[in-house]
Amino acid sequence: MHYEQLLPFPDGFLWGASTSAYQVEGAWNEDGKGPSVIDTHMHRPDGVADFTVAADHYHRYAEDVALFAELGLRAYRFSIAWTRIVPDGDGEINPAGLAFYHRLIDELRAKGIEPVVTLYHFDLPAALDDRGGWSNRETIDAFARYARILFEEFGGKVRYWLTINEQNMMVLHGKAIGTTGRSGDADQRTVYQQNHHMFVAQARAMALCHELLPDAKIGPAPNIVSVYPATCAPEDVIAADDWDAIRNLMYLDVAVRGVYHPLAWAYLVERGIAPELADGDLELLSSGKPDFIAFNYYSTQTVGASRGDASDIQTRGGDQQIVRGEVGLYRAVKNEHLPTNAFGWEIDPVGFRTTMRRLWDRYWLPLIITENGLGAVDELVDGRVRDDYRIDYLRRHIEQIRLAISDGVDVFGYCPWTAIDLISTHQGISKRYGFIHVDRGETEPGSLARTRKDSFHWYQRVIACNGADLG
Ligand code: BG6
Repeated sequence: MHYEQLLPFPDGFLWGASTSAYQVEGAWNEDGKGPSVIDTHMHRPDGVADFTVAADHYHRYAEDVALFAELGLRAYRFSIAWTRIVPDGDGEINPAGLAFYHRLIDELRAKGIEPVVTLYHFDLPAALDDRGGWSNRETIDAFARYARILFEEFGGKVRYWLTINEQNMMVLHGKAIGTTGRSGDADQRTVYQQNHHMFVAQARAMALCHELLPDAKIGPAPNIVSVYPATCAPEDVIAADDWDAIRNLMYLDVAVRGVYHPLAWAYLVERGIAPELADGDLELLSSGKPDFIAFNYYSTQTVGASRGDASDIQTRGGDQQIVRGEVGLYRAVKNEHLPTNAFGWEIDPVGFRTTMRRLWDRYWLPLIITENGLGAVDELVDGRVRDDYRIDYLRRHIEQIRLAISDGVDVFGYCPWTAIDLISTHQGISKRYGFIHVDRGETEPGSLARTRKDSFHWYQRVIACNGADLG
């Protein structure tokens, strides 16, 4: 629909930006932090930055928050490293870890920036992984205890909580993004049992949050794409619906409705990979209800009916945004209407609007976008990063949020990826997303100096006028 008059962004819209602990903090083994699966199992190819120093945010958080305030951020979405708080996952609490996040949150609040806190962003404690990780039901208890610690400790200062970042990407691409630890080669049956345990853990965290913090809000944070059928052939539509259920809707249906999406469950049963549900699991799943849906959006996916042979499967491997294809289920199709970024990810701002409309239509819960952005090879020349390509990407996506709001969708925040340059899940520091440049190379440490990119000044103006003028 075209509008003569668009609705404005609501007052108090949470203009923000995002990071995650292991990708930004560094200080991977300082002040009592325990190792996570990222530290023990995320082996980078030669010449690609690891996560040990990252952007050194752990030591430079005050300088970074001052820059976020100058940028005008109203929200900062970050994750807490489980292994800073409970180094072995379920044992002693580490006071130095708590102290760090108190300092960070206090600094944010002092500058009027709303903390939006992810409990768990890919970095499962290695000690839990040693005992089976998410295959082991004890990890559910460990997560619930960890969540309780965070709610009791930070509940007075944090109003918005996110449970698990991109559980669907951990399930579908866990090996590629390095989140699976020892179970990296687990069979699909095991992976979906782990998935089920994460669902139960998430539900317990949501129920606990409401019990302990009646004024706080909590939601899941999956990676959501709209799935397009390759053509209007009915078989392609069936394939698109099936894949949508398995990739997207299962994660939201369980979180919001406490039940598995029927198509997703049928797939799991048909493949012989359905998880075992323990007594009481269904009650637990429906006891935890989100207040909103947070989602990460980078692209859409286009699929066709399976041809039943290897041509269904895309050969381009190794990253979370690809459409892989599965024999007997769906075929990966390139969308000829969409350009791709330098790393092969399709760019689809209109699909962003479609995604918001569909989520609102299905769940009627307020939406916040917790990731969206352009990974690019930025160059610092004469003290300046001219990232007009990023401005263009963000502008075209923000336009679609305004359209979705005019469509009647309740969107209350936008936190693009990333507030500051950090280490990408695959391409080290060469693939940057930030509004703030960090001076470091893949293997050379660099000065770690911070420089405002052109996109910083642009986003600052956007926030200042509450999105009325996207420049
Ligand atoms: C999301 C993750 O999948 O995509 C982030 O939540 C990640 O952790 C982001 O960094 C971008 O992906 P990449 O591979 O470009 O770093």
